[in-house]
Amino acid sequence: MKNFKEDFPLLEKHPSLSYLDSSATTQKPRIVIDTLKDFYENRNANVHRGVYALSEKATEMLESARKKTASMLNAGEDEIIFVKSATEGFNQLSNALGENVMEDHNVVVTEIEHHSNFVPWQQLAEKKKAGFRVAKYKDIMSKGVDAIAELVDENTRVVSFTYMSNVTGKILDVKKLAELVRKKNKDVFVVVDACQAAAHKKIDVKELGADFVCLSAHKVYGPTGTGIVYGRKELLKKIRPFFYGGNMIHKVSVEKTEWADLPGKFEAGTIDAAGIISSATALEYFHRHHEEITRKEEKLKKELVAKLRGVERVTVIGHEDNEYGPIVSFLVEGIHPHDLATIADRDNVCIRAGHHCAQPLMESLGVSATSRASIACYTTEEDITKLVESIKKSRQIITR
Ligand SMILES: Cc1ncc(COP(=O)(O)O)c(C=O)c1O
Repeated sequence: MKNFKEDFPLLEKHPSLSYLDSSATTQKPRIVIDTLKDFYENRNANVHRGVYALSEKATEMLESARKKTASMLNAGEDEIIFVKSATEGFNQLSNALGENVMEDHNVVVTEIEHHSNFVPWQQLAEKKKAGFRVAKYKDIMSKGVDAIAELVDENTRVVSFTYMSNVTGKILDVKKLAELVRKKNKDVFVVVDACQAAAHKKIDVKELGADFVCLSAHKVYGPTGTGIVYGRKELLKKIRPFFYGGNMIHKVSVEKTEWADLPGKFEAGTIDAAGIISSATALEYFHRHHEEITRKEEKLKKELVAKLRGVERVTVIGHEDNEYGPIVSFLVEGIHPHDLATIADRDNVCIRAGHHCAQPLMESLGVSATSRASIACYTTEEDITKLVESIKKSRQIITR
């Protein structure tokens, strides 16, 4: 079995660190750091601009990264738009798709969304005086994606939902939901948040059947600062650009501006070539080891859930069946998640505590915060054992 930790310089340098916060951001493999460094040391020039060899080579590398990214997501090259994060993607999509949302329309999301896929749609609905329909966590748990589809009617214009919850790891059946939505209304834009899913599952945008899919490279072993928006070509051709400026134009005159062809139309200004090229390296790393990663993460997730359930007065949220990714939120009776995270940190165990940018879900769960442990390819059994020991220790410290 591969020793993934060896590929990650930070984890190699800190062998006693148990990093269980990969859902916030994954650690970066050496190959990604080297790609980033190589670009700045040997290849740096602005892309799509210069006619000299250095710039042409940088452009070639960027477009090759796009080609690889598109192929890994099963999208067309002109359907991949690079932005700075998934958050930017959702905001820009809500602006662009929002042009089709009018007063008697409605937008559908869920209570389990990260704020980045909740607030932009809420604000759009408010601005347009449209309906804002939110599928309840409890209904999703009992009825699955039907609970979301049943909110769709002939006035729905957007349905935006997560593939995998960043709080509980719950996986939604995206394909089924996209089909149910389209059966009810063909004019709906189906938007998917694949931020967490992309770190654990291969994303095939065609198979999912969504119109738009957003993700952040830093959650899939890539650098911070690069987000990916997949959009169906015929829709990208129709909607307005996200930003205006250089690169995204075909022709500008005093009277009017014509947009560049896809995907340039959506990539105004100087884009983060170094970040995009190393993000493609990161996605390749994940794809190369995908089968082994999935097997390992699945085994560790089961072990984590079982061990947590074995500790007195610890409640795991969800994970009753296998429709969950390796992200586990839990509550320890009598101990605030922040206290637990601080105590765990003293044992070099990094876990997340808080509302995880998902306050509507917290409200539905009736808590203000949870503790969250998330698994990546480099996680080991020892990391999980250390976490469980820290939880036991925290009880002795707090109740002493
Ligand atoms: C499910 C989900 N969606 C969206 C985001 C936003 O990602 P970013 O902060 O990289 O824009 C996150 C980040 O935690 C997330 O977990």
